[in-house]
Amino acid sequence: MIPYKTSIQLDRDSKQALYLQLSNQFVTLIKNRVLTPGAKLPGSRTLAAILEVHRKTVIASYEELLLQGWIESIPKKGTFVHQSIPLLQQKEFSNDAQPPHLQDTGFSFLKEPLLERPPNEELTNFHYLNDGVSDTRLSPMKVIAKEYRGLANRKRSIDYLGYGTTYGNPELRAALAVYLNETRGLHITKEQILITRGSQMALYLASRLLFESNSYVIVGETNYVAADLTFGYVGAQLLRVPVDENGLNTDAVESLCKKYQIKALYCTSHHHHPTTATLSAKRRMHLLNLARNYNFAIIEDDYDYDFHYDHAPILPLASHDQNGNVIYVGSVCKTVAPVYRVGYLIAPKTFVDQCAKLRRIVDRQGDSLLEATFANFIKNGDLDRHIRKVLKIYADRRTIFCDLLKKNLGEAISFEVPKGGMAVWVRLQPQYNWKTIAISAKKNGLIIGDWARYDTAKIEHNSLRMGFAAYNESEIHTVIEKLTLAFNESYPSLGKSE
Ligand SMILES: Cc1ncc(COP(=O)(O)O)c(C=O)c1O
Repeated sequence: MIPYKTSIQLDRDSKQALYLQLSNQFVTLIKNRVLTPGAKLPGSRTLAAILEVHRKTVIASYEELLLQGWIESIPKKGTFVHQSIPLLQQKEFSNDAQPPHLQDTGFSFLKEPLLERPPNEELTNFHYLNDGVSDTRLSPMKVIAKEYRGLANRKRSIDYLGYGTTYGNPELRAALAVYLNETRGLHITKEQILITRGSQMALYLASRLLFESNSYVIVGETNYVAADLTFGYVGAQLLRVPVDENGLNTDAVESLCKKYQIKALYCTSHHHHPTTATLSAKRRMHLLNLARNYNFAIIEDDYDYDFHYDHAPILPLASHDQNGNVIYVGSVCKTVAPVYRVGYLIAPKTFVDQCAKLRRIVDRQGDSLLEATFANFIKNGDLDRHIRKVLKIYADRRTIFCDLLKKNLGEAISFEVPKGGMAVWVRLQPQYNWKTIAISAKKNGLIIGDWARYDTAKIEHNSLRMGFAAYNESEIHTVIEKLTLAFNESYPSLGKSE
């Protein structure tokens, strides 16, 4: 008999029941071959006396082990470690100081190029220059929570808790059809809407169905990085066209159409990501005609439609599409807050149906209760109220941010004041570089974004997308002061030319 008194340590202060502690420790002894298959276990009275526990504790523990199949009971003979338990073999790990599960896997898997965004360094008392996100402090959390609670408390709330349709909550699909037709000039029915968990899911689903290996997709010379990676991941070849103050150059798109069989074009027509340029009316119409003539899809990612400051928002390409070429993608994640994973993919019904089938493979359905909450949030006018409120705040922040940038750093940078969105595309004069500035900035408590993120194999932009929407006025002053300090420290001659 093994020395049970020393091999088993029971903690009487633990929240775990004694019989469970005992059975778990038996499992470890069996796994470690301290108790080998066929070994006889002491009788319950004997073990209870050794461990100074009640006999019922030992009996309960043996019952647990029997139930799990670790031990077997042979009538009139006793209780034994199960004969057929194989030895658990363990790999030799080079660094045995680390448990194996913290190192590499014991199986191989595909290591494909995926979006690798280093997590923000966890630094306290630092300001971060983000690339254009909303101010989550302004998000109408209370209104949404009240609506959610109201639905959850309803007698019919049970309807939201089970398996539903993969297409998304029907109330939200209906509310969105009305809302998007009214606000974006679309002409859709709810059958053309698939609710997703955000724009990114919609981009992935569309890409997966559009592209095979070596399909061609046209994107801007600089583009939203996650879209580039999504297209690349499913095998598409990216063909890039220049972007200027009128957005994607559609003559360059036409030239590519003559040379390659284009499957799709991706655009952020309202404000090109990252440069913020709005696609001109002429180019919009040109693009739609090209899509019709060359039979390609336009993936229109309308991520910041709600934010336009100088005049009414420009209707999306989807509102002019007469030929079923546009796949329209959007979400509430930028407008309300990224945590609410509610987005949509809008396209002709045949494509939406196929996307729904594909979505079912990765995600059976969304959060129906949250989606119903957003249906009411839209129908009650709360979404519109929220947009009106933040639009004014962001417009003011844009002005303050751009004025300060120009005043303090106008000599070293150039930028167009964005007509909308949440960021400014700031070009650095060629004699300066962001890397040097970032080092100084960090010393002064400011982390600036990844300046090389939007560079491509062909072009180094020497530009940074600077978000302004998430800071209040005093934070904007602090951020620009720190940035100015970093510029001055990096380039002491700056501003002393007169
Ligand atoms: C251009 C663009 N498209 C899509 C997304 C993803 O949005 P969502 O949070 O809805 O997945 C973002 C988020 O930053 C974005 O900037």
